[in-house]
Amino acid sequence: MKRTDVTKEDNSLQHIAIIMDGNGRWAKKKGLPRSVGHKKGAETVKEITRAAGEMGIKYLTLYAFSTENWQRPPEEVETLMGLLREYLKSDLKELQDNGVRIVFIGERSMLPADIAEAMRKLENETADNQKMTLCIALSYGSRQEIVHAAQRIAVLAKRGDIAPEDIDAKMFAGLLYTKDIPDPDLVIRTSGEQRVSNYLLWQIAYAEFYFSDVLWPDFDRKCLEEIIENFNARERRYGKV
Ligand code: IPE
Ligand code: IPE
Ligand code: MG
Repeated sequence: MKRTDVTKEDNSLQHIAIIMDGNGRWAKKKGLPRSVGHKKGAETVKEITRAAGEMGIKYLTLYAFSTENWQRPPEEVETLMGLLREYLKSDLKELQDNGVRIVFIGERSMLPADIAEAMRKLENETADNQKMTLCIALSYGSRQEIVHAAQRIAVLAKRGDIAPEDIDAKMFAGLLYTKDIPDPDLVIRTSGEQRVSNYLLWQIAYAEFYFSDVLWPDFDRKCLEEIIENFNARERRYGKV
């Protein structure tokens, strides 16, 4: 039977996508400003990247900042951009040592120019690394991503480069930010919230979900190992019997 999309139909775990949530509540519980939670959350990013690489995960996608997060108070956005600047500066050596290729998905034009430039540089510098791909969703919104793909298809059709019947799931997937990345097998959201928040809507068609009550700053390698164990015990059927 003809495959209708790019979904990988087996039970292996090659791609984990995480919605890193709960930084603010972690800080609040401790009577600290939200910025402290974000700082601690940035440390968790490094720990989990390292752990995932060591566990042989080929793709790790982290939701760092959504298009909707631009609506947070300017001081909080500034804190998050500051942490991002630090991360972009500090992490090159560790990424190289661990064979991590970094890619960013999202609306780059909305980001400060120095950050967009640092992202481009880091992508270039790590482009040949083969052990793991770390995909960071930054200023990312899945509906926007899908709308952009539709706009590009409309342009191609209007120019006569494609006919309507040429449009299929494979072509569509190839116009998303994630075109070079396989679909996530497992989506983890921390902090107890059970929603998708505009994350990878197209790509998660057949993903497994795991909602953890742990707040992101407290999330660690052991949490990840337990979730992977849970995933490995599941049966993915892809609509079949
Ligand atoms: C996740 O933590 C980080 C971002 C969304 C940028 P939150 O900042 O959403 O923390 P809570 O949900 O308020 O606890
Ligand atoms: C989702 O978390 C976005 C990121 C983790 C970057 P939010 O905290 O922004 O999501 P909602 O507002 O609870 O849906
Ligand atoms: Mg949140």
